[in-house]
Amino acid sequence: MKHHLTINLPRLLGRLEALAEVGAIPGGGVCRLALTDEDKAGRDMVSGWMRAFGLKITVDAIGNVIGLRPGRKEGPPVMTGSHIDTVRTGGRYDGNLGVLAGLEAIETIADAGLTTRRPLAVAFFTNEEGARFAPDMMGSFVFQGGLPLEEALATTGIDGTTVAENLRRIGYAGEAPCGRSVHSFVELHVEQGPVLETEGMTIGAVESVQGISWVELTISGTSNHAGTTPLRLRHDAGFAAGAIIHFLRDLAREMGGNQVATVGAVEFGPNLINVIPGHAKLTVDLRNTDEAQLQRAEERLFAFLDQLASSEGVTIEHRRLARFEPVLFAPEMVARVERIAGDLGHAVRRMPSGAGHDAQMLARICPAGMIFVPSVGGLSHNVKEYTAPADIEAGANVLLRMLLELAE
Ligand code: GLV
Ligand code: MN
Ligand code: MN
Repeated sequence: MKHHLTINLPRLLGRLEALAEVGAIPGGGVCRLALTDEDKAGRDMVSGWMRAFGLKITVDAIGNVIGLRPGRKEGPPVMTGSHIDTVRTGGRYDGNLGVLAGLEAIETIADAGLTTRRPLAVAFFTNEEGARFAPDMMGSFVFQGGLPLEEALATTGIDGTTVAENLRRIGYAGEAPCGRSVHSFVELHVEQGPVLETEGMTIGAVESVQGISWVELTISGTSNHAGTTPLRLRHDAGFAAGAIIHFLRDLAREMGGNQVATVGAVEFGPNLINVIPGHAKLTVDLRNTDEAQLQRAEERLFAFLDQLASSEGVTIEHRRLARFEPVLFAPEMVARVERIAGDLGHAVRRMPSGAGHDAQMLARICPAGMIFVPSVGGLSHNVKEYTAPADIEAGANVLLRMLLELAE
């Protein structure tokens, strides 16, 4: 089959806009934390679009939603998709673009009256962000078989409620079993970093995703009077938290390469101006493209925590929230993205992904790949996240070609 199909950009942009209205926050961003009422409204909207042109929808027990279009033959589908949950201060493209562009590509194929040999499917996976419930990529992790369903359902979020009760509450505790065989998976996503824009490129052919290590640290010291307690008698959990933040920046700088380290959430108790904090809780996000280096960073952090606990006279407990090794995408999928982008006249480069993605979970069960498009100013997890319509169109058309090729 030869195709000169192209996606309908106004329809895709219209849906991006409509979905961004759900949970809209000032500045043009979106707050649709996983399994909240806003997430439910977004899910209902996207499922409605899927249903409207005849996709057969299944919802599995972890709330992943899959829209299927049969092929000429039965068998495992060629799948695309991403997530529609966001961080609390998210943009409108992260994840949403991949889902809506996948929908757009399949609708374009349907509008043209084509039936591919293999079935096509578009999915949105539950709780990719991990901002409310850890680990991130939870739905695709369960789908792939790496995280037991019961464990995922029992996860308690930042507000003390569980995944299971929220799935039931919003009506997305589905009946379908988690997981199915998939022929191949391709995800369009915004880069969320500065590389494509800086280099004047339109398409990234993603070769790998860096490893992720998340831990939560709880520090217990002694609350005491800020005016009367001499420094030598302090067991200051707040000071210890600050020392950890500082240590991590130094560590990442000293290790160099692709090592990054972030403390994104901190809580002090009692959190008062004239009381030495007796309690602190913080999260650590470490990432590296190299597994050995990532392990080295973890070892050095834990060695520092031991030292700090004894010098400040505090205890530091840790709880593992997520740990994923770096992932390599199937070389034939990377080459395919690169070739199709080139054929369509786009400047393309191979690159690693700094962010985690559902495609890295699917890569464990089938050939998987990703298409990146530029993020203006490299901004993401920020309300100002933006990708220009021309780049959205380019990425969605690369996705469309990928799906057509893979499904034949
Ligand atoms: C998840 O999207 C992450 O990379 O933090
Ligand atoms: Mn994402
Ligand atoms: Mn994200």
